[in-house]
Amino acid sequence: MTDTLRIVRTERALRGQVWEYRGHGETTAFVPTMGALHEGHLTLVRLAKKKADRVVVSIFVNPTQFAPGEDLDAYPRTEKADVKLLRAEGVDLVYIPKPDSMYNAHHATTIKVGGVADGLETDHRPTFFDGVALVVTKLFNRVAPDIAVFGEKDYQQLATIRRLVEDLDMPIKIIGAPIARDEHGLALSSRNAYFDEEGLRTARRLNEIMRNCAAQMARGENVDVARDIARKSLLAAGFSGVDYIEVRSPNSLTVLEGGVLNAPARLLVAAHCKGVRLIDNFPVKVST
Ligand code: PAJ
Repeated sequence: MTDTLRIVRTERALRGQVWEYRGHGETTAFVPTMGALHEGHLTLVRLAKKKADRVVVSIFVNPTQFAPGEDLDAYPRTEKADVKLLRAEGVDLVYIPKPDSMYNAHHATTIKVGGVADGLETDHRPTFFDGVALVVTKLFNRVAPDIAVFGEKDYQQLATIRRLVEDLDMPIKIIGAPIARDEHGLALSSRNAYFDEEGLRTARRLNEIMRNCAAQMARGENVDVARDIARKSLLAAGFSGVDYIEVRSPNSLTVLEGGVLNAPARLLVAAHCKGVRLIDNFPVKVST
């Protein structure tokens, strides 16, 4: 394979290259990441390649989406390995902005998405989506892609980006990619690198317990009963806490009436395992 990967670190070089693509009549698909790349990220890259002529990936550990006390400093930074993986996938351009080039000392603009961004994650990480919306807007402005790909692993994030793009008239098509899991069903995540063997074994129980929960709801079990069973099972399996187990409508993420589901829904969970906060989500296939 001919090596076509180009690494750029300045906004000027980035814009110049994407302009060149556009000048040749080529479309660009963009995959924003925080690095520490794994197979989950690579499935997004492969989808992006199918959807556009050129693929741009960014690697930036965005400080504004980490709250004080979260793992900003500890977050894995593996640039060399990331670039190697992206090269092997045939990515055209990797944008790695210098850490201090994204937010200057005078930065004073915030972006707050409501609706889909309220509740769930926001109840536990109140400023998380403000940081995500801000950095994604800035990256979209810098890259100016035709398409951008986000993972369903971060289901509420994907819904938030869709709302942001529609509300602010950004001419970018957002594509969602299915969750990539390991052979035991654990959703791949850069933070899985924090686990030892035992932690990994416990973490893998999450998807098993939540799949059971989704199946019970699909069979007509009362939602609150199924959620309660799942919460107790997680704690019994060694999880130290459960931030939420919630069932929402699949697109608008609106809260559904309690009782028995009568339409397809999405089950979303956030739970703590050996000091790592895991999120995951599952379709609830209720036959209508
Ligand atoms: P990061 O956690 O690096 O994830 C980058 C993209 O990869 C996101 O769209 C995420 O949903 C997707 N992804 C991660 N694990 C996945 C998996 N197992 N299956 C499918 N997709 C997966 O999400 C972020 O970074 C940041 O918030 C970002 C959008 C880059 C803004 O800073």
